Amino acid sequence: MALITFSSPEYKDKTVYAVAGSFTETVLKIAKTNKIPIQFSCGDGECGTCVVKVTQLGDKAPMGYHLEEKEKTVLLELGKITKSEMEDMIVNDLPSQWRLACQFIPRDEDVLVEY
Ligand code: FES
Repeated sequence: MALITFSSPEYKDKTVYAVAGSFTETVLKIAKTNKIPIQFSCGDGECGTCVVKVTQLGDKAPMGYHLEEKEKTVLLELGKITKSEMEDMIVNDLPSQWRLACQFIPRDEDVLVEY
């Protein structure tokens, strides 16, 4: 079970449980289910509207995530990640601090999602 805490300067923080390992529910879907107003447009990793900042919480070692090419492209275009940071994440299996909520499927770890 993963704990996801959604945080925004405009709204009260909300922590929800996510079924880890289902590989079906994106952070955007979890947010919609829980009435958390993350902005989005395409819902398909193309526009970058749903970009969120992700921080690992707790004492588990951070897990790397596989980013699809379109998510890498959008994060680079938005200037959220540099090419060298991207290479470092891939080589060292590190998580990205920035994700697209419509592409990010949480694993069994607790995270803070800032939107
Ligand atoms: Fe367009 Fe997520 S809603 S990239």
